[in-house]
Amino acid sequence: MSPDVRKTILSGMRPTGPLHLGHIAGALRNWIKLQDVYRCYYSIASWHALSSEYMNSKVIKSNEFEVAVDWLSAGLDPEKCVIFRQSEVKEHAELHLILSMVVPLPWLERVPTFKEMQQEIRDKDLNTYGFLGYPVLQASDIIMYKADAVPVGEDQAAHIELTREIVRRFNRTFGEIFPEPQTILTEIPRLAGTDGRKMSKSLGNAIYIKDPPEVIREKILPMKTDTRRMRRTDPGEPNDCPVFTLHRAFVPQARRDEIAHGCRTAGIGCRECKAVVIDALIEALAPYRERRARFEREPKLVWDILEDGNTKAREAARKTMDEVRAALGF
Ligand code: TRP
Ligand code: SF4
Repeated sequence: MSPDVRKTILSGMRPTGPLHLGHIAGALRNWIKLQDVYRCYYSIASWHALSSEYMNSKVIKSNEFEVAVDWLSAGLDPEKCVIFRQSEVKEHAELHLILSMVVPLPWLERVPTFKEMQQEIRDKDLNTYGFLGYPVLQASDIIMYKADAVPVGEDQAAHIELTREIVRRFNRTFGEIFPEPQTILTEIPRLAGTDGRKMSKSLGNAIYIKDPPEVIREKILPMKTDTRRMRRTDPGEPNDCPVFTLHRAFVPQARRDEIAHGCRTAGIGCRECKAVVIDALIEALAPYRERRARFEREPKLVWDILEDGNTKAREAARKTMDEVRAALGF
């Protein structure tokens, strides 16, 4: 057997509920492509969810299941990539602890997401040791597998930068064990939710990957459009229309250009335009629905896939931790 020369990728998501169209357009499509080229680890970040949801810890396990089903249905293939639950690979906790000894407090206090989330999210207690350490836990996810690169959106870029700083400090202190991971910056298209604001689960305006065709239709038909189009004969501007953000992510370019032209010349009406994106979404999500039906019928299949992924992740994690303990002289 020839040695595996592929580079390693790691990415993750917090299991906070079912995934929506933003997750497909912003992450999963890309992850699915990467699994053919790289050795990919995809982590369901149970403890990251716990850092903001500890009062609600009982929902995390069922959310992990939801996320796994969404990933598998979207086309992540357990034959090609390792899909695992962070909390089932206890080595992450050990590495997090060791890293926390060498990470200077100010590095964490100045992470932009730390203060922003504390200010924005008022209904949760984010004033904890665990939440401050969130990026250290993320660094442990990444370097545990000696990832060469991490595909993330702009919002996570500071965490990967911090991971590189932690790696440099660790390597200087204990010896060269970890590579510095690169960021593969994934463009996250801004999708509007049903109320025109940014699509997000917490705003209650999301279209979920698992929504059946009728629900997709019911959610999109009443959406507000460009306010210039009061009447069918008024021309509009797609760039000012929340619905068109969905076209950008799900309708092929040529068809989209036709529609944009139709909107600007009042050649098509908003109903017709919405019908196009509804059909495109229903079609795009059809393979997903098929795969999903099977996983819902056989939940054990999903837990088995996860267990298999946990085992593979653990194997790699154990090797890394042996090196780490040796480097520390333990
Ligand atoms: N913090 C990431 C987010 O909120 C999720 C995550 C956990 C992650 N571990 C990771 C992302 C490792 C990339 C690499 O989206
Ligand atoms: Fe939006 Fe389409 Fe109506 Fe133009 S025609 S305003 S893009 S819904």
